[in-house]
Amino acid sequence: MEPISGQEAQALPDFVLQQFAPGNGEYNHQQLYRILQGGIRQSALPAGHKLPPTRAMAEALGIARNTVVQVYEQLVLEGLAQAGVGRGTYVAEAAPGFVGRVRAALRGGGPVASPLSQRGADLVQGALASPMQWGAFTPGVPEVRMFPAKVWSRLQSQAWREVTPAHLSYATGAGHPALREAIADYLGGTRGVACDAAQVVVTSGTQQALHLVAHLLADSGDRVWLEDPGYWGARAMFRAAGLALEPVDLDAEGLAPSAQQLEKPPRLMFLSPAHQYPTGVLMSHGRRRQLLDYAARHRVWIVEDDYDSEFRFAARPLPALQGLDEQGRVLYLGTFSKTLYPSLRLAYLVLPRDLVESFTRALNELYREGQTLQQVVLARFLREGHYARHIRRMRGVYAARRAALIEAVTARFGTRLPLLGSDAGLHLVLGLPDAADDAAVADEALAAGVMTRPLSMYSLRRPAPHKGLVLGYGAVTEPEIRAAFDRLAAVLARHV
Ligand SMILES: Cc1ncc(COP(=O)(O)O)c(C=O)c1O
Repeated sequence: MEPISGQEAQALPDFVLQQFAPGNGEYNHQQLYRILQGGIRQSALPAGHKLPPTRAMAEALGIARNTVVQVYEQLVLEGLAQAGVGRGTYVAEAAPGFVGRVRAALRGGGPVASPLSQRGADLVQGALASPMQWGAFTPGVPEVRMFPAKVWSRLQSQAWREVTPAHLSYATGAGHPALREAIADYLGGTRGVACDAAQVVVTSGTQQALHLVAHLLADSGDRVWLEDPGYWGARAMFRAAGLALEPVDLDAEGLAPSAQQLEKPPRLMFLSPAHQYPTGVLMSHGRRRQLLDYAARHRVWIVEDDYDSEFRFAARPLPALQGLDEQGRVLYLGTFSKTLYPSLRLAYLVLPRDLVESFTRALNELYREGQTLQQVVLARFLREGHYARHIRRMRGVYAARRAALIEAVTARFGTRLPLLGSDAGLHLVLGLPDAADDAAVADEALAAGVMTRPLSMYSLRRPAPHKGLVLGYGAVTEPEIRAAFDRLAAVLARHV
């Protein structure tokens, strides 16, 4: 990339235009941010360089001006750019961190190199985490305002009164024994998971569990089958571990590998059979059997992500795939992020017996197991029935919110836009025509104060085969749902 001098400021839209690709599944603001940030980091946009006015940039790219404003503000916030009233926005003279180090290297005459590894740069550039994690219609967030904080703080005080040095020192196991016991009982009773406490490994979120799975069961270059569209968190973790990602289609019965794909068994497959994320497909019993047989025959590991099956509103859920597995091929993942609150960062793996020792050692080698006192509290919360009570209560709350969202959509669009997602979970997918640019819709909605995720972002394929918006209703009250959908509908009306 050639540096752009001060006089060539007007050429910037060209420089951005070369890289900017609307509809590539990334939000417009994220894409523009990534391109500009990359330009600054690689000194293609030198210190003092004036960025074009937001209106000119927006027109050149065919995106909303607000999107550009938002990106400039983010660059300023991070110290990469500076803004003065009436002066416009400039690349910062002394941006912190990375840029500072690049400049220092330049001054010393050394090579200008990114401090990031190739893997690090890929990870950061591909990052898709949402700019907002609260409010209508952020997917995957539960109603944390109804969390029984009083009960929790009582249990927490009790745990502190009874604290021992072991609770506060480095932990060396696979989780607090009382929590592992409580999880095993809960799963046996509600999800048909066949396990005892010795098979449960407590992790700091599903992401940490996936990190262990990727590093312990696969080598760099090994292939992993991913549902497509599918969970971007798993995709990011497997990609960062150097695995080769292979998107696999879905049909009405769940994961549907082609005949060609079946001929080349992968090392791992990642599934969400109870409530496919994000489309909501419930994997049929027949498909479960077929995949288990296939996995046993070809020694494929199945990673079963059972992230929100507590919230099923009509039919009873099918028991977990893990409960049908007689060959020890399934690793079952569960989380407290949806049932309690995401920042708790407690999740678990249920492992085939012969993997437990290795996973426990690796967990301690890489991270050191922790949060022991929180685990003590959580174990009591489960044992004393508060957990089951909270889930029962929230099931009613989410069912009503889901109904409100469906009503808002159908009142405005009838059946013209399909709604996907079985009778479960904390989100729905609003289908858009295949030709729609769902990333642009999501961007405009965000500028109007409504957070959605484009369905194309969940796909590894380019162009993404299906378009839509993932709408989370878990953390949004019914009046908020109606008001936010009105704003979203105004954006949608310009596109469909
Ligand atoms: C498909 C899926 N699995 C798992 C999780 C939970 O991840 P964690 O336990 O790291 O919060 C999420 C959260 O968004 C999810 O969408």
